[in-house]
Amino acid sequence: MGISYEEMKTKVEKYNQTQIMSNYERLNDQAKSELAEQIERIDFDQVNKLYESTKEEISFENDVIEPIAYVEKDKLSEEDLQKYLNLGETAIKEGKYSVVTMAGGQGTRLGHSGPKGTFDIGLDSHKSIFEILSDNIKEESEKYNVMIPWYIMTSKENNDQTKEFFEQNNYFGYDKNYVKFFQQGKLPMCDENGKILVNEKGIIKEASDGHGGIFQSMKRNNVTEDMKNKGIEWAFIGPVDNVLVKMVDPVLLGVMIDKKVLGGGKSVVKANPSEKVGVFCKRNGKPGVVEYTEISKEMAEQVDENGELVFGESHINCNLFNVNAIEEVANKNLPYHIAHKKASYLDENGNIVVPEKPNAYKFESFIFDAFDMLDDMAILRVKREEEFAPVKNAEGTDSPETARELYKKYYNI
Ligand code: UTP
Repeated sequence: MGISYEEMKTKVEKYNQTQIMSNYERLNDQAKSELAEQIERIDFDQVNKLYESTKEEISFENDVIEPIAYVEKDKLSEEDLQKYLNLGETAIKEGKYSVVTMAGGQGTRLGHSGPKGTFDIGLDSHKSIFEILSDNIKEESEKYNVMIPWYIMTSKENNDQTKEFFEQNNYFGYDKNYVKFFQQGKLPMCDENGKILVNEKGIIKEASDGHGGIFQSMKRNNVTEDMKNKGIEWAFIGPVDNVLVKMVDPVLLGVMIDKKVLGGGKSVVKANPSEKVGVFCKRNGKPGVVEYTEISKEMAEQVDENGELVFGESHINCNLFNVNAIEEVANKNLPYHIAHKKASYLDENGNIVVPEKPNAYKFESFIFDAFDMLDDMAILRVKREEEFAPVKNAEGTDSPETARELYKKYYNI
């Protein structure tokens, strides 16, 4: 039945968020029940605390940032390569490996109206990004003669469209019993005074809680439980928007098994010291990623005796975790980062306001903030031209055009 009108009023009054209900009488029944569901579910105390955190100065000055050890795939001795391959391939063939694709992003920079995975980067075949990813997992499944379960994280906004796209395309030839969708979490947006915004429909304006929300979403949606029931021990968690992503890499898995670590990631060498990417590091002795906004020019430019960047291992969002580690992270809270955004909303008189400058806060957690919950992790440096062709912007760097060229070059088409 949900929460009553009186209970809704009491809750919003308690948290000083009464504006949420100022359009209540104008709402249709559907919107009224959606609003009731939101008011019941949302942790208003958390939202108020998140808003308070926007006033705090965040300083990284006291953090000790050091370079992190990595293994370079291309420079492994034949003996080490075989050792890692054996370890990794055995686990994959035993059905202990799965893939999770993070496809819950909004893709605002690309500006495509549908889910990013449905985007056509302009290949002659007109394959969508989802088809490109399907090709990859299909090929690996055939290679190891095992069906690799594929979990796809969507958002409330793009979930239906994503599922329909897979249905319409017959799951691109992958067995649909091995493809599962789950939705990521969301958080309300608030204005610069901490007031929760109401959207055009008259209900609370919520936005995705960032890719760091994946751990809790996997737990909440019983994805980790499903994995454990199937005997899966490892989950590669990667992006939807890299058309050269290699979702199944026995070497990375082998290094992790050999090192006895529960987390791992791939890096490519930073293209230049000012490239806008986060790089792997040790932060206060724990694995982490230092963002380009956090790193000083001197640190970004620092080179070692071989002339290589000391902080040059770009995090390309290709992460591999042990399922137990995912559950452990899910039991803790990752920090939230604050984005100051332009967000349209419904004012208390029922008028839609479209702001011309940022007016709202969005709260997001990042997947790499989970790394410091692991004592150690394995970093595998791979070749940029083989594994990294991101689709981020509509034009220029990391755009469909650059991704298409990299893809064509790699596949020689
Ligand atoms: P980005 O951080 O590049 O964000 O996502 P985005 O939403 O795709 O694009 P912009 O910033 O709005 O232009 C990196 C990866 O993380 C996923 C994205 O789908 C992409 O695979 N992601 C991001 C989520 O799954 N959920 C989120 O809340 C954010």
